[in-house]
Amino acid sequence: MPKDWFEWHDLYKSEPKLQQRLQIVREYISRSLDASGPGQIRVVSVCAGDGRDLLGTLANHPRAKDVYARLVELNPQLVERGRASIESLGLANQIEFINGDATVFSNYVGAVPADIVIVCGVFGNIANEAELNRLLGNLSFLSKQGAFVIWTRGHSHDIPYSETVRKLLYEAGFEEVDFKLTQTGDMGVGLHRYLGESSVFPKEEQLFVFSGVPNTAR
Ligand SMILES: C[S@@+](CC[C@H](N)C(=O)[O-])C[C@H]1O[C@@H](n2cnc3c(N)ncnc32)[C@H](O)[C@@H]1O
Repeated sequence: MPKDWFEWHDLYKSEPKLQQRLQIVREYISRSLDASGPGQIRVVSVCAGDGRDLLGTLANHPRAKDVYARLVELNPQLVERGRASIESLGLANQIEFINGDATVFSNYVGAVPADIVIVCGVFGNIANEAELNRLLGNLSFLSKQGAFVIWTRGHSHDIPYSETVRKLLYEAGFEEVDFKLTQTGDMGVGLHRYLGESSVFPKEEQLFVFSGVPNTAR
């Protein structure tokens, strides 16, 4: 069992569920970039890990030079690895990796509202449905009207938690563009669009509480 979030990322080497999830997430990021209009494309990634989803996509995407992104992650080793990938892609002038708390709004100021919002590996680390609803409500501060939102939610104990997320997203004013389960059958990956209006400031500085721990979370 991983002792911290840096070690948790080693599971990408061995767990088909995470490998398949990453493949779908990259496909959705690529589709969102394809569908974006000409000019700059703003991207934010919430609890970004080492950024392998976005950075792995940009390595082969024709719109890479149009992307201006901010990735927010608390673990300094993951940020260091992400920054090294950004350097090797030659994207250091466009992509910032912030070593900070992704639950606080101030860490997004200047980077939002975004055209693409990545919230992968987050919804399963939120205490309950009320907290998840709070985060979904607060996505209006991160998202432009029409922004793509890419998310994941693992299942456990045969409970299809991703179905709850789809229902809550619908109720919160998001339109589903696509949804897939991994071949392993226990991880949902969604591509939604935010249809509401973008808000300039949140009511509270804290957008959500991340309460998961690396030895149980997915
Ligand atoms: C399940 S991992 C997902 C990482 C990445 N998004 C992915 O899908 O590979 C959750 C990540 O959230 C990070 N994290 C936890 N609390 C955080 C916080 N308050 N602010 C920023 N990152 C946080 C962890 O360090 C970890 O890298």
